[in-house]
Amino acid sequence: MNYCGFYDIHVLIYKTGGVPIKILLNNNLTKESFMNNFEFKNPTKIIFGKDTIANLSKEIPANAKILLVYGSGSIKSNGVYDQVMKAVSGFEVIEYGGIPSNPEYTILLKALQVIKSQKITFLLAVGGGSVIDGTKFLSAAALYEEETPWNLLTSGKPILKGLPFATVLTLPATGSEMNSGFVLTRKETKEKLAAGGPALYPLFSILDPQVVSSIPQKQIANGLADAYTHVLEQYMTYPNDSLLQDRFAESILQTLVEVAPAILKDPSDYQAASNFMWSCTMALNGLIGQGVPQDWAVHMMGHELTALFGIDHACTLAIIAPSHYRYNLDTKKEKLAQYAERIWGVTAGTTEEKAKAGIDKTEDFFHSIGIKTRLSEYTPDYSGAAQIISKRFTARGWLGLGEHRKVAPADVANIVEMSY
Ligand code: NZQ
Ligand code: ZN
Repeated sequence: MNYCGFYDIHVLIYKTGGVPIKILLNNNLTKESFMNNFEFKNPTKIIFGKDTIANLSKEIPANAKILLVYGSGSIKSNGVYDQVMKAVSGFEVIEYGGIPSNPEYTILLKALQVIKSQKITFLLAVGGGSVIDGTKFLSAAALYEEETPWNLLTSGKPILKGLPFATVLTLPATGSEMNSGFVLTRKETKEKLAAGGPALYPLFSILDPQVVSSIPQKQIANGLADAYTHVLEQYMTYPNDSLLQDRFAESILQTLVEVAPAILKDPSDYQAASNFMWSCTMALNGLIGQGVPQDWAVHMMGHELTALFGIDHACTLAIIAPSHYRYNLDTKKEKLAQYAERIWGVTAGTTEEKAKAGIDKTEDFFHSIGIKTRLSEYTPDYSGAAQIISKRFTARGWLGLGEHRKVAPADVANIVEMSY
């Protein structure tokens, strides 16, 4: 079952790392390249548009005892908190603020105690991907019967039960508001791992594009780069005759490229904000990934850079993606060339030349929104990162990443080193 085009990739596929699959024979694509069978169900209700936070009271189950989960306080200065509190005034609400970016396990354990001691029945995440992911973890951990909730992230098992929860999205980027995956950080071990399952779709998510107006430029750029890379992870593989999925994916990329200058110039531009927000959600709600091969190696390597150096999630993707595509040019060149043609209008040259131009254009796009693409531009301590990450992947049994499960730890070391 493909829960959302995220969960299965981030968790299950990497548990089967190294298991050969029948896609490649002697490095040539076999005739098995066609749309894969799929089952798709996404139960999250989306409430989109101006002034929709007021709808909260109608959507939350009657008699719910709510834990309102939020981050470092942006909601208090931009008016979102006041709107939420007004809308939930008929409910019993306990607040839990202070969820940091890259939500931290030990902090969430404290929130878990509150859920248990206060007999909370409903979680409301008000924030970006970090707050939403933290809330997903809390949802699962609240009903977890074993002793160590971190095992939710290491067991590789789909999460089948959780406390009901909903979200008020304040930062378009991750798509977490409409998928069933989450990513947690554990500082003491410098780990960043993903998990998820069918119980972790939000009951509903409120998407009011007006919240974008207070987001700092840097976070808007991050949102653009993250959503862009989510599409690439589900698209930049090999052709499998999924014509509609390709065009869904390309339309999201085109929309992000089109709105980027406007939203960076003026985050209160509602037209740009609404298109930006919906593109980010659509990039990772499972739809574009149905029936197509998926990669996700960029995210797996990127997560390690956040775990090791604290680099923003989206920036890690911009660091890794160009090198990953250059390194794997041979197996990805057809899709890279199609992308170069359809997104960037590159029509001259051979397939390989167009593919290379597509990678250059991707890097240019990241630069155009103010995101640097070299690890050494973020940290002076980069040397050795390639070997550390490669060893970690070996230890976890992640022996073959990417759509062909062929990106081995030695390749990971090469790709990360190319990104220095
Ligand atoms: O802490 P608060 O006050 O919320 O401030 C945040 C934070 O400082 C601020 N912000 C959010 N909305 C704002 C705002 N500031 C002003 N006005 C607003 N309206 O922005 C900062 C970054 O927020 P954060 O939630 O950390 O960013 P993002 O949404 O990019 O989430 C990143 C996390 O999501 C994970 C990442 O790994 C990372 O941990 N991801 C989750 C995914 C998923 N669940 O599907 C997929 C992604 O690939 C990603 O891995
Ligand atoms: Zn991402």
